[in-house]
Amino acid sequence: MDFFKLINARRSIRAYTAQPVEEDKITRIIEAANHAPSAGNLQAYIIVVVRHLKTKQALSRAALDQESLVQAPVVLAFFAHKEMSAAKYKHRGHDLYSLQDATVACTYAQLAAAALGLGSVWVGAFDDHAVNHILKAQPDWRPVALLPIGYSAEAPVRPQRRAVKDLAREAAPHP
Ligand SMILES: Cc1cc2nc3c(=O)[nH]c(=O)nc-3n(C[C@H](O)[C@H](O)[C@H](O)COP(=O)(O)O)c2cc1C
Repeated sequence: MDFFKLINARRSIRAYTAQPVEEDKITRIIEAANHAPSAGNLQAYIIVVVRHLKTKQALSRAALDQESLVQAPVVLAFFAHKEMSAAKYKHRGHDLYSLQDATVACTYAQLAAAALGLGSVWVGAFDDHAVNHILKAQPDWRPVALLPIGYSAEAPVRPQRRAVKDLAREAAPHP
């Protein structure tokens, strides 16, 4: 699908059918994340693939009982690897670049899922500490996003967006 059609058509999907997600599609989604830009090309993030029902249920409890995390056959958890970026970029890597690396990777993964005919939703409302505990994260990882992925069981209407003219403005000349 044309890129612009894809980004127009992608919606957050929170209800999924029971149809499993093919392994090669999971692989392609992770490969797409691997193409994402990252600070210094360090790719300072970790993706944890979650398929186990009890683990998904625990993640859901850590995320305000969001049902999407249980229903989806697979959940990708994106962690910023803070020390990996800090080793080169110090505080900026620790506090910013590693989070941005994980964010961009998740964005690529979400778009790849859509391109493969799969639904997903970016889940950001969770208890960091609980997610770290459930997924046995290392102390220098920070969970950035949980991405449930599956075949859609809903067709949400497109939500309103801000007007483009309100999003972007021309810079005033610098004296
Ligand atoms: C940083 C971030 C956090 C989000 N957290 C949640 C969440 O916890 N649960 C949820 O259902 N959707 C979550 N969303 C999805 C948004 O609600 C959704 O993208 C927005 O309503 C626009 O809808 P669309 O994705 O269909 O365009 C999050 C999205 C982002 C980017």
